[in-house]
Amino acid sequence: MSVRGITVRGSGISVPDKVVTNADLSATLDTSDEWIRERTGIKERRVGGVTSQLAIEAGRRAIEDAGLQPSDIDVVLLATTTPDALVPATSATVQAGIGIPGGAFDLNAACSGFVYGLVTAAGLAAVGSGRVLLVGAEALSRIVDWDDRTMAVLVGDGAGAVVVEPVDGPGDLISWNLGADGTLRHLLTCDHGGYLFMDGKEVFRRAVRVVVESAQRALSDAGLTASDVDLLVPHQANLRIIQAVCQRLGIPEERAAIVIDRYGNTSSASIPLALDDALRAGRVSAGDHLLLTGFGGGMTWASAVLRWGG
Ligand code: ACO
Repeated sequence: MSVRGITVRGSGISVPDKVVTNADLSATLDTSDEWIRERTGIKERRVGGVTSQLAIEAGRRAIEDAGLQPSDIDVVLLATTTPDALVPATSATVQAGIGIPGGAFDLNAACSGFVYGLVTAAGLAAVGSGRVLLVGAEALSRIVDWDDRTMAVLVGDGAGAVVVEPVDGPGDLISWNLGADGTLRHLLTCDHGGYLFMDGKEVFRRAVRVVVESAQRALSDAGLTASDVDLLVPHQANLRIIQAVCQRLGIPEERAAIVIDRYGNTSSASIPLALDDALRAGRVSAGDHLLLTGFGGGMTWASAVLRWGG
């Protein structure tokens, strides 16, 4: 039986117009540009909008970038931790907003959501689905206490989308690794109607470990080593985490896609934002090996190795 794989075709992003700099935050919080840059690598972030609208804009751009029409898409898969409402799923708003005739569902695996979504889209392709519009979108500013300096300096809003297309043969996704440890769910939480809370130190410590293990497992399953990675596309939570991951994996930092300085931590949106940035900068060529890897609340973690262009 022939295997059906996937290829990633078309990418688009959307971020709110409003730029909030570290200096802006320092005006109302007991913090400083120096502290935020040194501890996180963040210089500014985008704030505003709602998840569905950001997702619709990013989704439209990805479909256009792929040279397709909304009618060419069969499923909308939206990774988000900040849905517009608990019910209906925000993907339904995205489906209607873009005019896509097909299924729609949300997925919440916190900051690992986009990679979980990519693997899910590949699973849909394997059982006969058509193209999937995969979006990572967040309006984290809506669940942050702007008086809490420990969270307010970290997050931003935005969305990134790709079209995942089924192809005959193995396709681009050559290995993946998904993980979770729900005994650590207290490390990063947000109750109904509440604010984001994080045990930053503990998340930092564990993040480096789980990302490195997950990435190594995915590379080994692909029959590759760190030296084969042309581009690392990590979750953008903290520049120091990205640097530590690069160092432990043995991947030079110059091979990492980094947008945290401009966007802060945008959870599910951070990996597609970084991927889009690398694509627009011409950093990805056919045949390149990309390692996408993320971690987040749950805790969850996820890695995927892609050979770009099949
Ligand atoms: N401005 C100034 N000082 C601050 C700030 C701030 N915004 N926040 C904390 N501080 C102070 C602390 O109170 C502490 O002061 P003390 O030494 O007098 O006690 C000092 O700075 C150091 O604080 P730490 O928490 O030890 O700082 P650390 O270097 O660990 O950095 C950070 C904190 C940036 C949160 C880091 O731990 C981190 O990035 N953790 C991981 C975050 C992450 O990956 N999250 C994942 C998902 S997030 C999401 O899903 C939205």
